[in-house]
Amino acid sequence: MEQKEAKKRVYSGIQPSGMLTLGNYIGAVRNWDSMQDEYDCIYCVVDQHAITVRQDAATLRRRTMETYALLLAAGIDPKRSILYVQSHVPAHAMLTWVLNCFTYVGELSRMTQFKDKSEKHADNINAGLLDYPVLMVSDILLYRSDLVPIGADQKQHLELTRDVAARFNNLFGDTFVVPEPYIGKVGARIMSLQEPEKKMSKSDENVNAFIAMLDEPDVIRRKMRRAVTDSEGTVRVAPEKPGISNLIGIYAALTGLATEAVEKEFEGKGYGVFKDAVADVVVDALAPIQARYKEFLADKKALEAMMDDGARAAEAIANRTLSKVYRKVGFVERKRH
Ligand code: TYM
Repeated sequence: MEQKEAKKRVYSGIQPSGMLTLGNYIGAVRNWDSMQDEYDCIYCVVDQHAITVRQDAATLRRRTMETYALLLAAGIDPKRSILYVQSHVPAHAMLTWVLNCFTYVGELSRMTQFKDKSEKHADNINAGLLDYPVLMVSDILLYRSDLVPIGADQKQHLELTRDVAARFNNLFGDTFVVPEPYIGKVGARIMSLQEPEKKMSKSDENVNAFIAMLDEPDVIRRKMRRAVTDSEGTVRVAPEKPGISNLIGIYAALTGLATEAVEKEFEGKGYGVFKDAVADVVVDALAPIQARYKEFLADKKALEAMMDDGARAAEAIANRTLSKVYRKVGFVERKRH
C-alpha cells in the first residue's frame, strides 16, 4: 500500500515547444513555484506532447534543456519538488495506450485545442494530435494528483481527465484520484499583445504578440509600447477594450493589486504612461529569473544529473500506478526468473 501522504499532490506540465512566455509564467509557472511549500509537487517538461506538431530534433533537445533550466530559475526547487522530462519515464506512453481504450474518439474530436491545432497544421493532422489529451490524462493520473495548476486554456483537458478517471474507477474499482484544476483568479488567460482576442502563445509567428520570459528589458519595453489598444484613452477593463483589459490583467497579476485599484492608479493618465508601468513590473518580475537561468544553463552536467534524479523519483511513483492498472485490466504479470 502506498503510504498516505499528509500533503496533497500537485502535478503540472509544460511543453518545450518554444520559449516560455509571460502567459506561461503568469498563468502557470508562478503558481507552481508558490505551491511548493504547501503541496507535494511534481512538474514535467512534456517533450512527448511537443512532437504532435513537427519539431526539429536538435531544436527540441535544446529547448527541453532550456525549459528545464528556466523552470529551475523560476524557483522550481528539486529539493522540494520533482522536476523531470516526460520521455525519461516510459510509464506515460504505456498508460496512454491503456487509457486510449477507455476514451472515446468523439470526446477527443470535440477538444478545442485539437480543433485549433488541426486548423493551424492542416497538412499534419496526425493521430498524436487527436490523442494528445489522453497523454495528458495519463500524466496526471499516474501520479495520483489532487490538484493541477493550469491556465484557462487547459481546463477542457482537465475535465476529460476527470471523466476518464471516474469511468475507469467505475469499471475497475478505485484506481485513480479524480483531480481538481487550479486556475488562478487573475492571469489565467493572458492575451496576445497584437491580437488581444487570441491567447498569448509561444508558437505565435509574430514575435511582437508575446513576451518571452527571456526577452531583454528593452525588448519588453518595445513590445509593450507596440501593444494594440484602442482610441478611448482610459485605463479600464471592458469587453470592447481587450488590449487594455489584458494589460490591466498583467499589471494586476504581477503587483497583486485588484483590477479596480489598477484603474484608479492610472485614472487620467495616458496609455503611454500605463504601458511603461506595465513594462516595468514585467521587467522586475523576469530580470532575476533571467539572471539565474544563465547560471543553470551554463552547467549542462548538473542539469543532466537533476533530470536523472527527477526521472528516478517520478518513475517510482508512476510505475506503481501503472502496475495497478495492468493488473486491473487483466494483463498477466511478468515473473522474472
Ligand atoms: P502549455 O505548454 O501550452 O502551457 C503551459 C501552461 O501555461 C498555461 N498558459 C497560459 N496561461 C495563461 N495565459 C496564457 N496565454 C497561457 N498560455 C499557456 C497553460 O494553460 C499551461 O498551464 N497540455 C499542456 C501541458 C501538459 C500538462 C500536463 C499540464 C501536458 N501534460 C499535465 C498539466 C498537467 C500544455 O500544452 O500547456
